[in-house]
Amino acid sequence: MSVPEYKLLDGHTIPQLAFGSGTAFYKKDASQAVLSAIKANYTHIDAAQMYLNEESVGEAIAQSGVPREKLFVNTKIYKLEPGQTITESLKGSLEKLKLTYVNLFLIHSPISFEAPGQLEEVWKEMEAVKDAGLVRSIGVSNFRIRDLERVLRVAKYKPVVNQIEFHPYVQKQLLPLLKLQEENSILTESFGGMIPITLKADGPVTPVLQEIAKKIGGTEGQVLLKWQEQKGIVDVTTTTKDERLKEYLGAYFLRKLSDVDMKAIDDAGAKLHFRRYARHMEEL
Ligand SMILES: NC(=O)c1ccc[n+]([C@@H]2O[C@H](COP(=O)([O-])OP(=O)(O)OC[C@H]3O[C@@H](n4cnc5c(N)ncnc54)[C@H](OP(=O)(O)O)[C@@H]3O)[C@@H](O)[C@H]2O)c1
Repeated sequence: MSVPEYKLLDGHTIPQLAFGSGTAFYKKDASQAVLSAIKANYTHIDAAQMYLNEESVGEAIAQSGVPREKLFVNTKIYKLEPGQTITESLKGSLEKLKLTYVNLFLIHSPISFEAPGQLEEVWKEMEAVKDAGLVRSIGVSNFRIRDLERVLRVAKYKPVVNQIEFHPYVQKQLLPLLKLQEENSILTESFGGMIPITLKADGPVTPVLQEIAKKIGGTEGQVLLKWQEQKGIVDVTTTTKDERLKEYLGAYFLRKLSDVDMKAIDDAGAKLHFRRYARHMEEL
């Protein structure tokens, strides 16, 4: 079974599961891991300037031999050097990735562009690189309601996604942001989706995941992946292990979670608030 694709509001499509080249690979060569992921059938690769390893992602893409049009590559701009434009910064990424375009280009965080008028100006430049054909789609990451509203006020093209930390322990706090995104057809991309397993294994979601996993014959991680998928969320995850690549992809072969199971995870998550990344998201 192949990874399902979601439609973006600009008409392009996005594979629902991405392999991330950050966190475990931050400042490290990710080429072998990305190559393994592509060989295992991942088509969506999440990169970022901030991870300081775009060259190694480009190396893996080139080595894979997979035709460019079969891959969905995303990268992100964290900040601009003094006097640098978005176009110049993006061209630096494209050179490192050895690509002529990326499928998706994100502003990594609003924090770098908080000065009055700056976010609006940067968004206009993001639209210009889309018009120039250097990127297919443009979006944002770690944006609060206030940041999205600034961009939406001036947008010719709305951001197609907001990539945020998303798992059961932040869902309740994020509900107003998710509502605004839904009203504007902005897709949610999740990172940190495994946090209930990796950092909060003693939390109230764990027994619920264990019970559902047993019932559907999968792992707790696969239950979390299905929970995200059934909410229409793009999951950006990662691993250093080949067997975990198979585990993640194996989630698509499992039966759907029932409404009762989905609600049980929601309710257990709502009992505890825990965030690992992007402290500014605590105040939407
Ligand atoms: N936009 C942003 O600001 C932002 C921030 C953070 C991340 N990201 C992106 O999202 C990607 C994923 O982020 P993340 O690493 O936080 O995602 P995650 O999906 O929460 O965690 C992935 C990690 O979980 C571990 N894991 C999975 N199942 C496990 C299990 N059953 N037991 C123990 N460990 C398990 C894996 O370890 P193993 O290696 O042992 O398999 C892997 O390293 C990043 O690489 C990056 O591309 C973006």
